[in-house]
Amino acid sequence: MEYIIKTNRLGLRNWKHSDELPFIEMGKDAEVMRHFPTVLSDAESLDLIKRLSDHYKEYGYTYFAVDELETGEFIGFTGLKNQIWESEFTPCVDMGWRLKRAAWGKGFATEAARACLEAAWPKFGLKEVLAFATDTNLASQRVMQKIGMDHIGKVQHPMIKGDSRFRHCEVYKFTMQA
Ligand SMILES: CC(C)(COP(=O)(O)OP(=O)(O)OC[C@H]1O[C@@H](n2cnc3c(N)ncnc32)[C@H](O)[C@@H]1OP(=O)(O)O)[C@@H](O)C(=O)NCCC(=O)NCCS
Repeated sequence: MEYIIKTNRLGLRNWKHSDELPFIEMGKDAEVMRHFPTVLSDAESLDLIKRLSDHYKEYGYTYFAVDELETGEFIGFTGLKNQIWESEFTPCVDMGWRLKRAAWGKGFATEAARACLEAAWPKFGLKEVLAFATDTNLASQRVMQKIGMDHIGKVQHPMIKGDSRFRHCEVYKFTMQA
């Protein structure tokens, strides 16, 4: 398998057909989707895979599909994506991660995210990367902190606006060293 980014335990690549079923399953897991307004329908998961794959073809980076190298199993996504929704922090490139529940708590998101940050400038020409997580999503913010991102503010994400369970998103940033 040709990986775009490889770490000790993980391979990051563009999406493929065999990711569809496990990704649909993840999207139906209420615990995985706890910090989002709803779980995802099959069509929404498939549409997201298509959009992420198209983003890769256009820019060379995306929220990559992640395989655990030891088993070759698809475990979710981690990567970089352009964000164009309107706010004081956008347009920007952000990092995102979503793993199936069985893969949590092993440092996988941190390992994949750190590798994406390391590749951001030399491989993709990105000088600055942001990350967003709802204020309640402490695991996600912990990943941001562990990879050395700085907390720079709060924002109302259009996807969660009006949903009283989420007050706002915390915003983190990493600037590449010259
Ligand atoms: C966020 C997510 C990708 C993290 O994946 P992971 O591989 O378990 O992350 P890591 O193991 O690399 O690190 C998680 C850190 O958060 C901590 N953590 C986990 N749950 C936590 C909680 N409820 N409160 C505080 N910290 C928490 C862990 O202890 C760990 O920190 P540590 O190494 O200092 O102990 C995973 O939980 C997930 O897929 N969640 C659902 C999707 C999601 O919310 N994505 C982010 C949207 S912004």
